[in-house]
Amino acid sequence: MVIHSGIVKYLSIDGLGIVRLSTGNWVLLRNAFPGDEVEFTIPNSEQSLQEKTILGELIAVKNFHYPRRKSPCIHSTQCQGCPLIEMSYQDQWKEKILKLKFYLEKFQWASHWNISEEAMEWGKAENEFSYRNRGQVKVNGDLVGYVNIFQDPQKNFQKSSKIVPIEECLVLSEKSQQILKKFRSILPHPLSFPNPPEKFLWNFFDFDEGIDLAQMDESENFLKDHLNKRRPFSQGNQTQNQKMKEWLKQNLQDEPQKTEIVELFCGSGNFTEVMATMHLSRNNEPHFKIYALEVQGSAVQLLKLKNLHGVDVIEANLFQSNVWKQFSHQFQNVEILVLDPPRSGVKFQRAWPNIMPNLRKILYISCNLESFFKDLQEFRKFGFQLDLNTLRIIDLFPQTMHIEILAVLTKS
Ligand SMILES: C[S@@+](CC[C@H](N)C(=O)[O-])C[C@H]1O[C@@H](n2cnc3c(N)ncnc32)[C@H](O)[C@@H]1O
Repeated sequence: MVIHSGIVKYLSIDGLGIVRLSTGNWVLLRNAFPGDEVEFTIPNSEQSLQEKTILGELIAVKNFHYPRRKSPCIHSTQCQGCPLIEMSYQDQWKEKILKLKFYLEKFQWASHWNISEEAMEWGKAENEFSYRNRGQVKVNGDLVGYVNIFQDPQKNFQKSSKIVPIEECLVLSEKSQQILKKFRSILPHPLSFPNPPEKFLWNFFDFDEGIDLAQMDESENFLKDHLNKRRPFSQGNQTQNQKMKEWLKQNLQDEPQKTEIVELFCGSGNFTEVMATMHLSRNNEPHFKIYALEVQGSAVQLLKLKNLHGVDVIEANLFQSNVWKQFSHQFQNVEILVLDPPRSGVKFQRAWPNIMPNLRKILYISCNLESFFKDLQEFRKFGFQLDLNTLRIIDLFPQTMHIEILAVLTKS
């Protein structure tokens, strides 16, 4: 087998090191970080080299750019859910900032961007472990764990279906750990086996801190209610979520009374609540008029139950091309758009200038660099500019390459 060598240039969004071959292919390697001098092989090379991006197998790091620490997690090699765990937290954070800088310069939003010390400190996570208040595990009988999609290099990105059993997950918060522990204690159960086995490879269990531990005593009912059921979205790191809410507040602080705001992908109202309770008058009159849109029925119900003054909650699938037509009269006076889309980003923005002709400010909360910059290109076409002074990056998920971006766009 041919042994290749090279220097890792970047980290992929999944936290894999990227090396460029002289043939122009990009090879992704686990446990290889930028600046490392590495040796690697390419499984099924004849076939793999037909692909632009290949999953390689690391043989050795000849020269470490970043010092490595011993992983504190016994599962990390198998699980791969925390690909940066062998880097110090300081170095992880540095790499995330460099990633944002790379994109800003690549898409010509900045010719040479340097984050301020203050912004850098602000976005850093306070806890690099025990922060995660929600998760999803896969379940088969009494086997509980995560699925590592890179488990099988021979498959080059085809999803692996093997569950990596997890005893303890260090990034989970104390309450989440308790939920998982108790969940494991009620297994195996006839319901915890995939059914029918040939169709489903496993069940999934979505959990967050809203789950009542006492409910789990009724194991049959609990499994019926919770296996393979998605819970409404909630931000995965509460400490950092607080900071995001503060950021939103600051950027709406000076907006005049009666400003109309559309909030897309509002979930169960994490950010809606912040906006609806800003600058309340003595008799609790709302300051803003808010239209909050979301597709998931259970999240919409939760938001409606909050009964927020000045908020119209609208259930809508924002990825349907004809969805915007129905708002062409309703949104004429909207001046501000707040959006926090899923990883895929936004679609059909081209409809917005007509539907919201008075739009002058966009507050974009993004969990995916690629879709964020793709969307930014669209906003640019209808006159929006990115404000680099207020741009923030925040670390919600240490040990992973996940990056959350908070951006203000204004019309010049
Ligand atoms: C990143 S979450 C943000 C939720 C909320 N802002 C929060 O902080 O909890 C993205 C939200 O987009 C919703 N979503 C996904 N696809 C959608 C679609 N096609 N139309 C409308 N909402 C959608 C999800 O249900 C989820 O609530």
